[in-house]
Amino acid sequence: MGNLKIPYSFIQEILSRVDIVDIVSNYIQLKQVGRNYTALCPFHPEKTPSFVVSPEKQIFKCFGCGIGGNAITFVEKYENLSFSEAVRRVAEIAGIELPSHFKENEESFQIEEAGYRAASYFHSKLSSILSYLKERGISEKEAKKFLIGYAPQGYSKELNLNPKLAKELGLLNAKGREFFAERLIVPIFNHFGKIVAFAGRTLKNDKSLPKYVNSPESSLFKKNSILYGFYQSKETILKEKKVVIVEGYFDVISLHKIGVKNVVAPMGTSLTENHVKIIKQYASFPILMFDGDSAGRKATIRSAGLFFAKGIEPFVVHLPEGEDPDSMAISNPDKLKGLLGSPISFIDWALNFVDSFPQREQIGYLKEIVGAILPLRDIDPLRFKLYFAKLSSKYGINEKWLLLNFRFSSRKALNSENEEEFIPDKEKRFVRALIEKKCPPIQISPLNFTSQKVSQIVTLIQNGESIEEIQARYPDLASLIAETLFLEVTEEELLKAVVSILKKELKRRMKLMKYEEKVKLAKLIQSLEKRDIKDFQVLRNFEQLKPCPTTS
Ligand code: UTP
Ligand code: MN
Repeated sequence: MGNLKIPYSFIQEILSRVDIVDIVSNYIQLKQVGRNYTALCPFHPEKTPSFVVSPEKQIFKCFGCGIGGNAITFVEKYENLSFSEAVRRVAEIAGIELPSHFKENEESFQIEEAGYRAASYFHSKLSSILSYLKERGISEKEAKKFLIGYAPQGYSKELNLNPKLAKELGLLNAKGREFFAERLIVPIFNHFGKIVAFAGRTLKNDKSLPKYVNSPESSLFKKNSILYGFYQSKETILKEKKVVIVEGYFDVISLHKIGVKNVVAPMGTSLTENHVKIIKQYASFPILMFDGDSAGRKATIRSAGLFFAKGIEPFVVHLPEGEDPDSMAISNPDKLKGLLGSPISFIDWALNFVDSFPQREQIGYLKEIVGAILPLRDIDPLRFKLYFAKLSSKYGINEKWLLLNFRFSSRKALNSENEEEFIPDKEKRFVRALIEKKCPPIQISPLNFTSQKVSQIVTLIQNGESIEEIQARYPDLASLIAETLFLEVTEEELLKAVVSILKKELKRRMKLMKYEEKVKLAKLIQSLEKRDIKDFQVLRNFEQLKPCPTTS
């Protein structure tokens, strides 16, 4: 989707016209506690509420996981939207009309509409494949929920779609041929219920034909960021915080039929890091239930590694050889639900799995399993020790072996994302003072701060960006801003922080000054030391003491 730059005035208008309490209440239940509202944090699992919404400040903050921001960033995170999509969504919730030039995505809108029209048309032809569906045990209810359909020969003429849109959706291939003719149609919903692509399953028993054909990727269809079934499963996933991950479209559909409604599948590719990122926002308990064949087992190990790398513990449901979730949902739904009720922790599954091979074949799998749990060494060392101990007691692997085989651990890649930087209180307070305009108008160099984020915020504020705009445009700064706004600090403490940073700045400048200026500055620093800066008049003079132009 084109990420049109949204006029700042519009963001400001939206924020001024909505109440964050209303917006957040659209998604989760808030409870008033004093001046604020609290709830169980929707972004991490918890038993006691540490998620706080402040109507006065129009921000939210979770004191458990640290996430925070304003109404727009809440929706952005909760729905996993891009910023501009989140602006739209908030405007929609608040009933605010979008400015005409902001309806930018005329094109996406048209594609989505064409997608829906095509899917409805295919669905209306369902009668042509009733016997097939019946054979596969798919009821009308599921057919409707997933808008399954049939594409007769000649559909493009009947649909009379604009050829450009038809190509974008993959309904016509590059040569203008009907790509899905005479196939069962599985529309691909994006996570917000818009149809952005199609899959077509052959109804013939001809092994030379591909079983499925899928729309190619497009501006609205990125396999990497869509999970099949997510839209239909979202509500249950959010409620249960559990998600079952399967391989195929029909696995998703059949599980819904037997009442398992928190199921997703990647789009015929393997699960990616990005999929895991999305899942992480909604669920903390992933259950891998792949086909009972060698490919499915390997995918289980690989996918488990992706979850461990994000600090999430994956569970496994081991299907009997030759079965897939769809076949079991038909042949033995109760057994399948039983298995889903007691998934096995990955490490226990993995040990059993390796055991089932003759010794000389075990080493390859062991390597993959160690590779999967390796990210834990940095994220959750105790858990890593525990798992590793299980492996080593059974197979005699020791840490030396591990280091030899995995010399290049994933430490570097992980640090960037999982380690929150430590930010000194002083710097947080300074940001707060800056926001409350309690700092004299002196250019403060970002070099004064140890925190990368604080340096960034300070620079942005000094460049004249408003706090709302920073929160909006820099989601990774929004949490820190919210945190500083929630700080319980006295005026005295704020002033102290300001003085301390000012002193740092002045000393920094001093190094770069001529002698006579140094003397003037030294005097000012002295008065600062007495914290005699109530009258910021004095400080005006500071600004004339500009550092030499050689500074950064
Ligand atoms: P499967 O072959 O397991 O398909 O491939 P399935 O969903 O179980 O299909 P049924 O039950 O036989 O109808 C798993 C997934 O891989 C992708 C599809 O996303 C499928 O759901 N796939 C498979 C393709 O994209 N193309 C193919 O030719 C085969
Ligand atoms: Mn299958």
